[in-house]
Amino acid sequence: MHKSKPYDYTKKAMQISNLNHGGNVYANAKQLNLLPSEIIDASASLVPFPPPQILIDSLNMEIKNLGFRYYPERNLSDLKEIIGKFHAINPNNILPGNGASELITWAGYEASKFGISCIPSPGFVDYERSLNCWNGNFIHCELPKTWNNIFPQSFPIHPKGDVIWITNPHNPTGQLWEKNSLEAIIKKYKLVICDEAFLSITPNGEKESLIPLTKKYDNLLVLRSLTKIFNIPGLRLGYIIGSSKILKQWTIKRDPWPLNSFAIKAGIDLLSNQKFYQEWTDQIHSWINIERKRVCEKLSKIEKLKVHNSSTNFFLIESKESLSRNIKYLENKGILLRECTSFRFLDDKWARISLQTRKNNILLCKEIQNSFRK
Ligand SMILES: Cc1ncc(COP(=O)(O)O)c(C=O)c1O
Repeated sequence: MHKSKPYDYTKKAMQISNLNHGGNVYANAKQLNLLPSEIIDASASLVPFPPPQILIDSLNMEIKNLGFRYYPERNLSDLKEIIGKFHAINPNNILPGNGASELITWAGYEASKFGISCIPSPGFVDYERSLNCWNGNFIHCELPKTWNNIFPQSFPIHPKGDVIWITNPHNPTGQLWEKNSLEAIIKKYKLVICDEAFLSITPNGEKESLIPLTKKYDNLLVLRSLTKIFNIPGLRLGYIIGSSKILKQWTIKRDPWPLNSFAIKAGIDLLSNQKFYQEWTDQIHSWINIERKRVCEKLSKIEKLKVHNSSTNFFLIESKESLSRNIKYLENKGILLRECTSFRFLDDKWARISLQTRKNNILLCKEIQNSFRK
């Protein structure tokens, strides 16, 4: 009888150690001798639903057709066309990538040509990585640390510089920025990169998208990711929308086959069915609205803790004392929070939490409460 081999975590764990990102499920599972699926990962902000049948069928079809035996189509024209139809954008203004992360690397290449990049901070750590790849100059521009619970909000800072990196909704704070306030920003900078990785899952988020403005402004690049919405971080699929001239230049320089055939097929199938997409996102928005209220109310009862307002599926907590001990306690229980010391202007008194299924949220809140009693 075939006996399955124990899962080999070692290599995977080594690959992800020392990275300033959440989602270090492999390392934690190895440490606790658990399967990755047994970890409650509240450090990476993904949608915790089972995968949609369209995705499973799509990947199965790719195996059945032995699609992996051929080099993927190089100019990605079918995928660009579907994304174009989806957003009402000319396919020449679209470039799919190996996750939004690959396109962040190219956005950093573009930004480094213009001068100083402003990174509103605390902010997503990958922008800094990408600028460092190209010896780009950047400054961290501090965002206010308090905000109200009415979203969208006006973008609060207008720092001096040549390029600005906007994240909408903002990571790690979860603030949703208002489109009009962002349009004013576009006029002030030589280049604006707007990362909308979480916008489609954010209730009432889509109204604030800058995608329609790419038709009006050549200095605007808008990034999207399918990672969060479909919980496919392992597939790697994102795209960027902007000037066809810029995107053409990147295409000449990038790897010949950045997207694998599974990601291409899945992207086409997931975005070509509008009815499915609408139902899927409606379900996500109602999960976020219900669970965020429940979890935030529960955690707000902890005396030492301040729970910050968020428009989306993750939020920040701030404690009067270091949270390192609490995070360690939770890690030993197989629950991961995103510690915040790698975010500029935050420290060990902060942590970012992403929403889980109802059952796991109950467990998460209970263990967070316990961690303060120890
Ligand atoms: C704001 C933001 N943009 C982009 C990404 C990367 O997305 P992808 O998985 O598509 O590379 C992340 C991942 O955490 C993120 O938080």
